[in-house]
Amino acid sequence: MRRYWKYVKPYLSAFIIGPIFMIVEVIGEVAMPLLLSKIIDEGIIGGRGASYIIAMGITMVVTALVMMAGGVGGAFFAVKASSGFANDLRKDLFRHIQKFSFNNIDQYNTGSLITRLTNDITQLQNMIQMIMRMALRAPGMLIGALIMAFALNPRLALVILCVMPLLAFAIYNIMRIAFPRFTAMQKKLDALNIATQENLTNIRVVKSFVREQFEEDKFKKANTDLKDSTLKAVKVIIFTMPLMMTAMNITTLAVVWFGGNQIIAGNMDTGVLTAFVNYVVQILISLMMVSMIILNSSRSLASARRINEIFNTEIDLTDESALHKDLSVQHGKIEFRGVCFKYYKNNEKWVLDNIDLVINPGETVGIIGSTGSGKSSLVQLIPRLYDADCGEVLVDDVNVMDYSLKNLRSGVGIVLQKNVLFSGTIRENLKWGDESADDDEMYRCAESAQAHGFISSFEAGYDTELGQGGVNLSGGQKQRLCIARALLKKPKILILDDSTSAVDTATEARIRESFRNTLKGTTKIIIAQRISSVIDADRIIVLDDGKIVGTGTHEELMKSCEAYSEIYYSQMDKKVTA
Ligand SMILES: Nc1ncnc2c1ncn2[C@@H]1O[C@H](COP(=O)(O)OP(=O)(O)OP(=O)(O)O)[C@@H](O)[C@H]1O
Ligand SMILES: [Mg+2]
Repeated sequence: MRRYWKYVKPYLSAFIIGPIFMIVEVIGEVAMPLLLSKIIDEGIIGGRGASYIIAMGITMVVTALVMMAGGVGGAFFAVKASSGFANDLRKDLFRHIQKFSFNNIDQYNTGSLITRLTNDITQLQNMIQMIMRMALRAPGMLIGALIMAFALNPRLALVILCVMPLLAFAIYNIMRIAFPRFTAMQKKLDALNIATQENLTNIRVVKSFVREQFEEDKFKKANTDLKDSTLKAVKVIIFTMPLMMTAMNITTLAVVWFGGNQIIAGNMDTGVLTAFVNYVVQILISLMMVSMIILNSSRSLASARRINEIFNTEIDLTDESALHKDLSVQHGKIEFRGVCFKYYKNNEKWVLDNIDLVINPGETVGIIGSTGSGKSSLVQLIPRLYDADCGEVLVDDVNVMDYSLKNLRSGVGIVLQKNVLFSGTIRENLKWGDESADDDEMYRCAESAQAHGFISSFEAGYDTELGQGGVNLSGGQKQRLCIARALLKKPKILILDDSTSAVDTATEARIRESFRNTLKGTTKIIIAQRISSVIDADRIIVLDDGKIVGTGTHEELMKSCEAYSEIYYSQMDKKVTA
């Protein structure tokens, strides 16, 4: 709970003023029946005349106006406080998720994160708004009405006291049954969002596999599950209202019965009975409000727990203990010293096993190896997308953990194997790599990545709008934009993870050629499936099952490394048969 104080503090005045306004409304609400009883008893029956009735009537109108002002003010400040709270909380939650390491992200489902950022926070916002409007009002009205009832006629008030425990017991039981059902409902909503998000982001795959029906059934199930669990929860809740109404009617009847007898016996005035009936209604309404608060709070508590889960997720990769936070990558030397790594800490098998490797500044290194051999894993350790489990990764002879993440990642440009573009223009996408870059620089990088040609062929050129993820581009075009985006960062180390797989060999050769000319001082690591992509590298590293099984130039490896020559001949074979 202490966590949330931070979000209350900036809106503290609204949090305080809101309920004060509500108290004004409550006082008016409690005073109204009394004024009415005075008009009946003293004005009409007591014969105090029209002027008294008019005076009382005016008092009632003024009270009503004050009540209205109280109600409006209360509502306004409740909205102000709760939406401010939600806004700040959402901002922090989003910021926290941005800090997540790759490993942290792997633990969560995107759909679930979206539900938490939206629906769960809205749930809290609604609860705050409701509590601000009702938390003082309900007990205030309950206590006020009870006091008034007792003051007017203690014996008659006892009737109300008899009904209250019965009602409290009924509400308690409704809550007890409803709580777990609401928790279940929130989980089903999560499941629905996960299914929806997964389907929508992968709709093209769904269509190409003609799995629409399957997906529709999956969605229908999640949707029906949500409907059923909602019904199950609400089914209990719908008893609350009628039960209250019945209790209210029975109590009113009892009050009228007992009160009527008292009036006949001459012990009570008619107006008092009218006021009394009003107080009975108020008491029951306030009980109803209290039950609604408890009920909704339980729903929000489930949401708060889900939000806390994210905040409590320890970010397992930070630069807090970095020794040289101001240091930036200068030369681009890379060294792996006895590095091993695995994704799941309780897995027995290492994904990378005792890697020793030195890459010199300006060197171009190719990495080849069968799929799943650990190529992507290896390079992801350089910009600390993951941390090694043993050994050290050094950049410019400094452990990568000793750089600030910002400086390290600015110095290491990586084009990930699964890379994406954002919605927006090509210009925006490229400058995402470096916002401050000017257009000339952008053209140069695009030229270098062999992207300038096709971009210029578009009608809108660099202002061409890209759809989500760059849907309106070909695979090879997308890859070249991703490379240009990384180049714009002017990194000292450039890593291309299978980034030219969809580019034809001639274009790929031109990219390599331009790299040779324009990126002389940059250390380049090129992961590829095709040997032709790395054949002219200064050095090629062959990975197999998490181990380095060969290093050297193409010629050296052909002689010394069986795994390499096997890959070479298998690709030559393909070419011959093709
Ligand atoms: N995020 C992840 N979580 C868990 N395991 C992973 C993850 N990414 C990769 N792996 C596993 O680690 C091993 C090495 O994967 P890696 O992606 O490094 O291979 P690769 O050599 O890049 O393969 P490819 O040529 O197909 O890209 C594989 O067995 C894979 O299943
Ligand atoms: Mg890979």
